[in-house]
This record gives sequence, structure tokens and C-alpha cells, in this order.
Amino acid sequence: MEEILKNSKTSSSSSFSVLVNDQEKMNKKIDELIATLPVDSEGSVPLYQLKGCWYPFFAIRGNIAADLHFQAQDSDIFLASPPKSGTTWMKALIFSIVNRNRHPPNENPLLTTHPQNLIQYIEFRHYLNGNIPENLDQLPKPRLFATHSHYASLPHSITHSSCRIVYICRNPLDTFVSLYHFLRSSEKIQQDMDATYEKYCRGTIHFGPFWDNILGYWRASLEKQEKVLFMKYEDLKEDIVFEMKRLAKFLGFPFSVEEENEGLVEEISRLCSFENLKNLEVNRTHKPYREGGVSANAFYRKGEVGDFVNHLNPSMVENLMKITQEKFAGSGLVFKYSLDKLQNS
Ligand code: A3P
Repeated sequence: MEEILKNSKTSSSSSFSVLVNDQEKMNKKIDELIATLPVDSEGSVPLYQLKGCWYPFFAIRGNIAADLHFQAQDSDIFLASPPKSGTTWMKALIFSIVNRNRHPPNENPLLTTHPQNLIQYIEFRHYLNGNIPENLDQLPKPRLFATHSHYASLPHSITHSSCRIVYICRNPLDTFVSLYHFLRSSEKIQQDMDATYEKYCRGTIHFGPFWDNILGYWRASLEKQEKVLFMKYEDLKEDIVFEMKRLAKFLGFPFSVEEENEGLVEEISRLCSFENLKNLEVNRTHKPYREGGVSANAFYRKGEVGDFVNHLNPSMVENLMKITQEKFAGSGLVFKYSLDKLQNS
């Protein structure tokens, strides 16, 4: 086991100096690396640990392939997040802000397309199963991508170029509750909440440990403010207009005074709001949002801050708060747990 861990830690992306463009070679390299990785088979799907991040089986091959093949462009925009942190909302916002001249709110593709299909995950859509994609150069500029990887396990080309990364996260209690419900519906397994909770606390959960996922981007955002924008779900809930302006400026698409005076920021915020998106036909259907995907409506549940109080008992709350305080100690990171009380950790 020690040997396996040693291998996985030393298998850094920088060790792959030559890009792999041949699918056969790619498959071989992926198989070789995967054979060295720690595996957790306790949950509903096997998880593989690479550079500290636990990848579900459907994302590990794609992450390695992207590391070996993806060429970031300086104009690229990446949305990074732990699962169930408001990714769908941010996909809608980023797409609408960046494309507002091409698609004004009343003709926005969001009206007929699920946000998950407007910005695709690099590790389990573009490079699904380790397949080398052919069409990345044809994507409209700026190219928009999403990822759940930790900062330390991002494909090399993303961290070593001038592309921008927006990170969204959410307090660990609401994230857990949202994840629990999503896994139950998406993996079609009646998961026991206690078992999922234990795995979440231990970190062996999709793209976990949750705290490491957050800390990597938090530190990167402090060191490289022009590269990483760190955002929180609770802040967006509290003041969407302020957060959207901050986001648009970071992305290089600031709102002009005229646009602000015309109420465009508010208009886009209404288009991307939970209530609006949830009720659109494309999002409220039980049908999969893409072939083989989960139900479109699984991405919209309650959309509230503080819903954890309805699902977690006091000892679960206390324990998660304690882990969070320990993990984030000295980082300067705090989360709001309820917008009413504006409590901080
Ligand atoms: P809940 O399960 O707490 O309701 P992700 O998009 O990362 O998968 O996160 C899903 C969570 O974001 C779910 O939280 C979902 O309801 C919420 N959500 C989805 N769209 C939203 C929106 N437009 N505004 C606010 N919250 C949204």
C-alpha cells in the first residue's frame, strides 16, 4: 500500500513532458498510471486517488487524458467547483455574461438548453473515458469549460497558462445535504445517509476531500488574483448583483455603465435564478439532460442556504463544524450557514 501511495504522489503532471496525441498510446499510459493509484470501492462507485483528489471511475481516465493532451488557451475560462456547490447556477451566469452580445437574455440558449450542456466538464465530457476529443479548437472563443478537480490535480496546461479559473463553493453542511440527495437520485442506489456522511467526513467521496478541494483554490486565489476568482454560493444568494459585477469584471467582460443603467445585470440574474431555471421545461423534466445522464431536474432541489437543519442531527452538525474549523484553521476562510442569522464558522 505504501508503495502505491508513493507512486501516486510522485506521478505529477509535470512528469509528462510530451503531449500524447495517439489514442492507443494514451490508453496505455492511462492504464499504467491507474494501476498505481489507491482505490476506494466502499461506496456506490469506485474512486481513484490522484494527487490528493478522489475521482469517481467515470472521471479518472478523462483527467489523466486531459493532463496529457489538453492545450489551454489564454482566453479560456474554467469553472471549478466541488459537486453540489452551485455549479449549475454559475454555468448559467458565466455563459450569459460572456455571450450577452451574441445572446441577449430573451434569446438566451438557456431557455431551451440545460446549463450543464452549455459548459461541459473537461474530465468526464470532453475527455470522457480518456478519449481524445477532436473539436476543442472549434469551440467559440472564449472557450468555456468546467471541472471538479482539485487545483493540485488540474491538467498541467490549465495551471501553467494565463487562462482564468472561477471557483464556486458552499458551506460544507449544505454541500453535504445536496450531495447526499443528488447521489441518491443519480446513482439510483438507496444510500444510507450515515454511510455517505462518514465517507464525506473521511474525504473519500466524489472529488473529495471537500476541504482540500476548497483550500487549493482558496490559496491559489490569494496568490494569483488575476487567475483565480474565489466565490461562495451564500454570497451570491445574498447579493447577486454585486457578485455578478465582480464575476463579469474578472472574466474580462465588465458591465458598462449603460448596461447597468438599463438593468441588464438584474435581467441576467433573473434569467439564471433558481425559480426561473427550475421551471423551464428543459430543466424540470425527469428525462436525462444528455444521453446516459441523470434527470435534468436532479440539478434543482431547494436552492437555499441553511437547509442542512432539516436533514442533519445536532451531532452531525457539530462534528462537521469541528472538522471544518480544524481544516480551515489559519486560512482566513469562513462560510455563512444561514442567511437569516448570518452566522459565520
Ligand atoms: P440544493 O440541493 O441545496 O437545492 P450543482 O449545480 O453544483 O450541482 O449544485 C446543485 C445545488 O445548487 C442544488 O442545491 C440546487 O438546487 C442549487 N441550484 C441549482 N440551480 C440554482 C440556481 N439557479 N440558483 C441557486 N441555486 C441553484
